[in-house]
Amino acid sequence: MTAKGRKGKSIAMSVQIYEVRESQYDRGDTGERRKGAFEEKKEKGVVEASWLRKQGVVSYDPGYTNTACCTSRITYLDGERGILRYRGYPIEQLAGKSSFLEVAYTLYYGELPTEQDLRLYEANVAAHRTPHNDLLKIISNGFRSDAHPMGVLASTVMAMGTLYPEVNPALQGNHVYESYKVREKQVFRILGTMPMLVASIYRSQNGLAPMVGFDTDDMTFTERFLCALSWAEGKLYKPNKRLARALDILFILHADHELNCSTATMRQLTSSGVDVYTSVAASIGALYGPLHGGATEAVLKMLERIKTVDNIPAFLNAVKNREEKLMGFGHRVYRNYDPRAKIIKRIAYEVFEEVGQVDPLIDLATELERTALNDEYFVKRKLYPNVDFYSGLIYKAIGFPTEYFPCLFAIGRTAGWLAHWNEFLVDPEKKIARPMQLYKGQGKRDYVQVFSRWGKRRNSRISSRVFTGRLKK
Ligand SMILES: CC(C)(COP(=O)(O)OP(=O)(O)OC[C@H]1O[C@@H](n2cnc3c(N)ncnc32)[C@H](O)[C@@H]1OP(=O)(O)O)[C@@H](O)C(=O)NCCC(=O)NCCS
Repeated sequence: MTAKGRKGKSIAMSVQIYEVRESQYDRGDTGERRKGAFEEKKEKGVVEASWLRKQGVVSYDPGYTNTACCTSRITYLDGERGILRYRGYPIEQLAGKSSFLEVAYTLYYGELPTEQDLRLYEANVAAHRTPHNDLLKIISNGFRSDAHPMGVLASTVMAMGTLYPEVNPALQGNHVYESYKVREKQVFRILGTMPMLVASIYRSQNGLAPMVGFDTDDMTFTERFLCALSWAEGKLYKPNKRLARALDILFILHADHELNCSTATMRQLTSSGVDVYTSVAASIGALYGPLHGGATEAVLKMLERIKTVDNIPAFLNAVKNREEKLMGFGHRVYRNYDPRAKIIKRIAYEVFEEVGQVDPLIDLATELERTALNDEYFVKRKLYPNVDFYSGLIYKAIGFPTEYFPCLFAIGRTAGWLAHWNEFLVDPEKKIARPMQLYKGQGKRDYVQVFSRWGKRRNSRISSRVFTGRLKK
């Protein structure tokens, strides 16, 4: 079996398929020594929670605004200065010159690939372009036709885990992921299958037959995804190269963002020893939330509701009165312009040029941004557009329905989730994640039999009234 590299060179997949960086098996993800993590933390003036504990002190930190739970070498983020780097490489350079799979490789292995490694990596991922038939059956028979695709995607990835009991720690024991090869194989499988699951959900919801065995060896990861959305037997849809490149850049920009909510979820679940498919499914669940990846969808719906530039002042007043939220604005870490939003805004205009139509919502979005950035409420709180503010307009221009926006985010972020999964598994300081609480409930009190409680409380605490008659004993 052979696959063609981008320059037309054939590579023998059958012999080389799992040989990427085999020499690093025992050295963790980057081959770097990780034992010095404690020394690093001391240098950076970090207070160890165990030290606080010895002083009889607990740090109370809802939302983890000032709590580090791991050391990481994957992504550097400086929210004050608006800097984002993957493995040291500035996001602007990666978005300008790299490809999504090259970035996924770099996030996982820690270094940019050689050309040969990249071709092998692409071939390994491409080998998983056809989802298992059982998953296709679940997608077409297991959900209502109007089910939100993120719900379908999370459920299908969860189901995917049941197909591989031989690499499930719950069945085989925790040692199963100690093998570098086993971890890597799950990465290829998940990265390769994820876009095809999204495409299959789209096809099923739009009455298109599942695609089987379509030959896309000469396509990039993102071209193949676009092709899968429109594939029909006997006809191979050739995706527009410029639009595919724009989407590829969006995948790069979404690929990782250190310990955001869904990546923290990935680490949290992995810490319990559960299989990687369950962890990814849970991360998709976290990403679905409108304060996280669901914001892409929420921004577009917000713009459609605002409708015209004239309505902006009233909308922003509602935001300031806390009746509304300005979706696509604000970020836990950035107190400056999100560097990804700058790139995305530029791409939006390139995409409009390519499709030959400017979405009027871009003018509305630009004016909304300008007004907010000059408003004291947003200035005082250092609220700037984030990655989701303009990305939905690009997805819309390419032709995606609004509900699919978070799925597109999930395709990109899968690269980061898997890099963090791998890093967690090889971290000598890893522990099951188990935060503390400050208990503020009742002190000790004695149990009262149910018949002695009747009449003491007239108003039930249960708000919904299901029973119309008296409960019979
Ligand atoms: C991303 C987000 C959840 C970060 O939340 P956070 O770090 O907990 O920040 P806070 O909610 O504490 O915000 C600080 C202040 O700014 C306000 N604020 C933050 N984001 C806001 C927004 N999008 N619209 C209006 N006000 C906002 C908060 O109300 C708060 O005001 P206060 O100090 O008067 O109470 C938040 O900015 C948000 O909800 N944004 C919109 C959703 C979004 O675009 N998510 C995608 C993120 S990539």
